[in-house]
Amino acid sequence: MGKQDNIYEAGNLSGLPFTFNQEVAEVFEDMIDRSVPGYKTSLNIIRYLSKKYYQINTNCYDIGCSLGASSASILDGASSPKVIAIDNSEAMIDECMRRFKSQIDSKFIQFRSEDIMQSKLENASVVVINYVIQFLDLGQRDELIKKIYHSLIPGGILILSEKVHFTNRFETNRIYKTHHSFKALNGYSEMEIAGKRDSLEGVLITETENDHLERAINCGFTRSEKILSNLNFRTFKFIK
Ligand SMILES: C[S@@+](CC[C@H](N)C(=O)[O-])C[C@H]1O[C@@H](n2cnc3c(N)ncnc32)[C@H](O)[C@@H]1O
Repeated sequence: MGKQDNIYEAGNLSGLPFTFNQEVAEVFEDMIDRSVPGYKTSLNIIRYLSKKYYQINTNCYDIGCSLGASSASILDGASSPKVIAIDNSEAMIDECMRRFKSQIDSKFIQFRSEDIMQSKLENASVVVINYVIQFLDLGQRDELIKKIYHSLIPGGILILSEKVHFTNRFETNRIYKTHHSFKALNGYSEMEIAGKRDSLEGVLITETENDHLERAINCGFTRSEKILSNLNFRTFKFIK
């Protein structure tokens, strides 16, 4: 476990606007665990579904891997998989190279420091994109999901987690307040919650649950299912 997240403590505005830099990489595990309800459950689901859907002699992708938590779940779940983990934050990839040294040496995993829009994806049976689409330009999202669809072999799975908003403004506000309380209960002060919210403004752009379901269907996925729902966070599974 890395350091405790205190980036937005009083007077510290070094995170404006939010980026996945060295400062964030150092506290990321604590940050995501205290900010995303159901995060650990999403990792357990990834472990379970990787075991179920991994097909021998194919690739597994962890797109936007950060510190490799989802990669570790894939490695735990699938037997002897080849995992390719991609992130465009050098700070995150550098830390992954340290943490996963033995699995890298054993060729079970490779880390790529690149923009996912430029990545070549192929021969995949498992693709995980955990809380990443929300950081892409809206115009890039269809293109990426299409690319993932085409990289999957028949029967392959895409596991996608995202923060969402609701079409009903009152529901969005109600759940927003509960999520705010969740973060406060996890030890963030009002100042920290407000600081992080401001720094994510225009950087993290949510869509609705239906936007994600419709996009996947439009890109060709035949089976789609919402498998986790925690406040304003969702995990979906899409099968080719
Ligand atoms: C919320 S974190 C993902 C958490 C991680 N998937 C997990 O399960 O712990 C979002 C990550 O996506 C990465 N990211 C954002 N845009 C990207 C892009 N265009 N290409 C590659 N990585 C990207 C960020 O650098 C960051 O590490």
